[in-house]
Amino acid sequence: MKKGLIKVTALCASALICAAALAGCGDSGKLVMGTNAAFPPFEFTTSEGLVGEFDGIDVAIASEIASDMGKELEVADMDFDGLIAAVSTGKVDMVAAGMTANDERRKNVDFSDTYFLASQVMVVSADNTDITKAEDLKNDKKVGVVLGYTGDTIVTDDLQIPEDKITRANRGLDVVQEVKNGKLDAVVIDSATGKALAEKNGLKVVEDPEAFETEEYAIAVKKGNTELLDKINATLAELKASGKIDEFAVKYNQ
Ligand code: ARG
Repeated sequence: MKKGLIKVTALCASALICAAALAGCGDSGKLVMGTNAAFPPFEFTTSEGLVGEFDGIDVAIASEIASDMGKELEVADMDFDGLIAAVSTGKVDMVAAGMTANDERRKNVDFSDTYFLASQVMVVSADNTDITKAEDLKNDKKVGVVLGYTGDTIVTDDLQIPEDKITRANRGLDVVQEVKNGKLDAVVIDSATGKALAEKNGLKVVEDPEAFETEEYAIAVKKGNTELLDKINATLAELKASGKIDEFAVKYNQ
């Protein structure tokens, strides 16, 4: 009889714990960041990352957001192309991926305040002399971009490079390697990543500030998720004021 009573009490206790855990389910102890970790210095994989194998400026920023919220950061790595869908369907809580905030994307997600300014650059071979400005790409050049990046839109829609001259890959490194082996003349990609990839592969970067506009990186959340957006913006404001974002940029650019 006594035994049975203990059992029932134990059952109730565990049921209570379960109920409490379930209640917290909607905003569990995790903040899930969607990203595409092939974009150094913003996100990349390494043997000892900040979160598992993941590291970079965005991972560092997202860790601060999570810790301010009293949550643990989880990183969900996927193709860049799938990030907007992942956050709009709630598969991830936010996207921190060196993502440029623009009107096209604003149709589907809401963006935080800007945390970094960038622009496109051209990665060419070290001895290249005939690509000095964006217009030169129209001169029958073979151009590489990453599928769905702003660089893709600029090369396709703004510069109107013919389709048969464009190579689209899923990662910057894949097209940069094609420049290295002479199959492509140039890759159009974001400045910091272009510089990092050029350096690692013995290539050089050509800038054209007149042709390539300034792009604003921001964190994306599901449309209408102002609760999370406010928290993200509060942490971003702190990180900007304390100079931490600059510190992260210096740290990961090395
Ligand atoms: N800034 C560019 C864009 O928004 C490229 C971002 C790529 N980011 C990444 N994590 N792979 O399209």
